[in-house]
Amino acid sequence: MIASEKNIFSLTNKYYSYVFRVGDNGILEHVYYGAPLNNPINSFSHHYQTHRDGVLHFQGEKNYNLSEIPQEYPTFGSTDFRFPAFHCKNEDGNTISVLKYKEHFIISDKKPLSGLPSARGGNCNTLIIRLEDNSHKIVVDLTYTIYKNHGVLVRSSKVKNKGNKKLELSNIYSSSIDFPASQFKILHLHGSWSRELSEETMSVPRGRFIIDSNRGSSSAAHSPFIVLCENQCNEISGNVYSSSLIYSGNHSISVEKGEFNNVRLLTGINPFNFSWSLSPGDSFQSPEAVHAFSKDGLRGMSHIWHSFIREKITPVSFKNKPRPTYINTWESSYFKVNQAEVLNLADKAVSIGLEMVVLDDGWFEGRTDDTSSLGDWYADANRFPDGIQDLAIKIKNKGLKFGIWVEPEMINTRSELYKNHPDWVLKAPESISSLGRNQLVLDFCNNDVVNYIFDKLDSLLSEGNIDYVKWDMNRNMSEVGSPKVSIQKQLEVPHRYILGLYSLLNRLTKKYPNVLFENCASGGNRLDLGMLSYMSQSWPSDMSDPIGRLKIINGCSYLFPLDVLSAYIGPSPNHQNGRITSINSRFNAGAFCAAQGISLNHSDIDKNKSELTELMKFAKEHSSDMIGGRFYRLKKSDNAYCWQYITKDYDKVFLLYFHILSGPNEPFKHIKFVELEENSNYLQVCNGKIYSGNLLMENGFTLPYVSMTHDNKNISYMPKGDFTSKLFVFEKI
Ligand code: DGJ
Repeated sequence: MIASEKNIFSLTNKYYSYVFRVGDNGILEHVYYGAPLNNPINSFSHHYQTHRDGVLHFQGEKNYNLSEIPQEYPTFGSTDFRFPAFHCKNEDGNTISVLKYKEHFIISDKKPLSGLPSARGGNCNTLIIRLEDNSHKIVVDLTYTIYKNHGVLVRSSKVKNKGNKKLELSNIYSSSIDFPASQFKILHLHGSWSRELSEETMSVPRGRFIIDSNRGSSSAAHSPFIVLCENQCNEISGNVYSSSLIYSGNHSISVEKGEFNNVRLLTGINPFNFSWSLSPGDSFQSPEAVHAFSKDGLRGMSHIWHSFIREKITPVSFKNKPRPTYINTWESSYFKVNQAEVLNLADKAVSIGLEMVVLDDGWFEGRTDDTSSLGDWYADANRFPDGIQDLAIKIKNKGLKFGIWVEPEMINTRSELYKNHPDWVLKAPESISSLGRNQLVLDFCNNDVVNYIFDKLDSLLSEGNIDYVKWDMNRNMSEVGSPKVSIQKQLEVPHRYILGLYSLLNRLTKKYPNVLFENCASGGNRLDLGMLSYMSQSWPSDMSDPIGRLKIINGCSYLFPLDVLSAYIGPSPNHQNGRITSINSRFNAGAFCAAQGISLNHSDIDKNKSELTELMKFAKEHSSDMIGGRFYRLKKSDNAYCWQYITKDYDKVFLLYFHILSGPNEPFKHIKFVELEENSNYLQVCNGKIYSGNLLMENGFTLPYVSMTHDNKNISYMPKGDFTSKLFVFEKI
């Protein structure tokens, strides 16, 4: 997988080749990234050479123009005028570093990063290139991991101060890739509360296009994920280069098109409002950037991400484990939860065949609305007089699992915790702290805070009655600062916060590997590979209306396998947008997500009991199917979505057609299935009709009429009306 010869390094597997070399001046030059090459070391013979002078740093070498030379880890100040991967300042005020090759190491497998989540090793090799800068007396290690069976390249960088003076690090991207002059389109995911992960596509503009976060979390505004699609690329063909970050804090991914049409992709921690002080001997480790290349368009790219995330990111303890069907109290009861209400809902849950009750927000002391109590993690004495453990046991005695909601990083000023520790919040010196949902953020740079929260959660979980934890985080961070960090180091606080969070998550999830953790941040405000390293699933959005949700799931699916997502049937009219939809459509929009449930009040459950029972039976029956399979975006338009899903054993195929507004006298649609077994037959479960794989793929499946038996007696139609959908199940026979 990794070869090195004549100063050339190549990383090659069946998905891609990545090649770079040490130039004559010691600069690491990027040579090639793309489809696998037969002889990658020789690709240097085609290496792009500059033929123009510029301002030349390396005198005597003609045309060695750093503004044009594709580099592996560019710096600023020595004639490359684009945004650099790395920037630091020494005590003399010097910010110019020229990083040159010093040595390299190849190791089998991969080491975890310390303090940060990182992709798991196994069947991989790692190349570490050590660069040095003699005037700053630093070494920078660039780490590259290639896996045998994944189309991803994992990169990170680490700087160490080897001198005897202090350094101020202001920018350390995890990875930089310089593409030769190219015509790319960008696809990225943006949004806000309740409309996360909307996709946007555009041509790469001249200049620098940046998606980033300054909110303390990776954010719904810009997911840390970008795709560069070569022109002509589409869902099923063409070269696609994509990048994400195993990090949950302030990120930055930028695409810069330079004066010679060359394109630089930087992925890492946001350099804005960031600085890290490096005393002699100190080092700083960047998070890992992950790059996925596909020559088979967006679908091929998504499948690479999906299998990598399952195999190397999400916790092993829930890998391939079906998730319990559940009722969540949020949209059924909001803050009006109490022991009797929850036990009642548990009975309802039993009556429709659900497997778990999740007690959402509102259970702890004094929490009857969102103005108080965050931080006081003990049961409200009036509403839960017997406590949470007792409630959990009662629920378990009904044959159900029990889950609970927490928001451990937050605090209300109306809380015991704040009364006792007003200095435990994030706060910039001399500033007024803005409130978000009436709450402040705890200072996770402070170990006492992290330990306190660990103890509180530990005492909730240690009795073993809690099977699932929904970990929420409901505000962006502002006026960020920490009394625990020296005045000179305040710009370290956002990253230190994330390190504190990761240390807590690491301790907890290691101690409780069998508790199912769900990541949530007002929905998808921190849905990233960092959080998914600790938590097996994520609540992607508070948008429980199916039409809103379709868009979100479609966006998610570019990067995430749907088995990291949870979904539920929420109320209608929908509480976020007022739309009225059928129970069936509310279920279908999330049908391919791993975790299925409901969040409905008593009367809605009673009114729809038989339909809910049927749907939850279906969800249970297929809960193993919805883990580990292949998801296909077959159609996406303003008025329709069509998705296909094949189970991991290739034995079942699901097709979902979702129709937004109905029109009269609509033309038929032919949906062509993909990646079925040509010579196998597939049984349509609802009517016993048999189709060959070949027929379903080549001639397709006709909608809106879904089936018609030979004697014409049994005709079933797509449901009529707006916001309707149909989910078909086929079994290979
Ligand atoms: C935001 C989450 O996204 C919701 O599902 C719910 O848990 C509320 N917070 C509770 O405050």
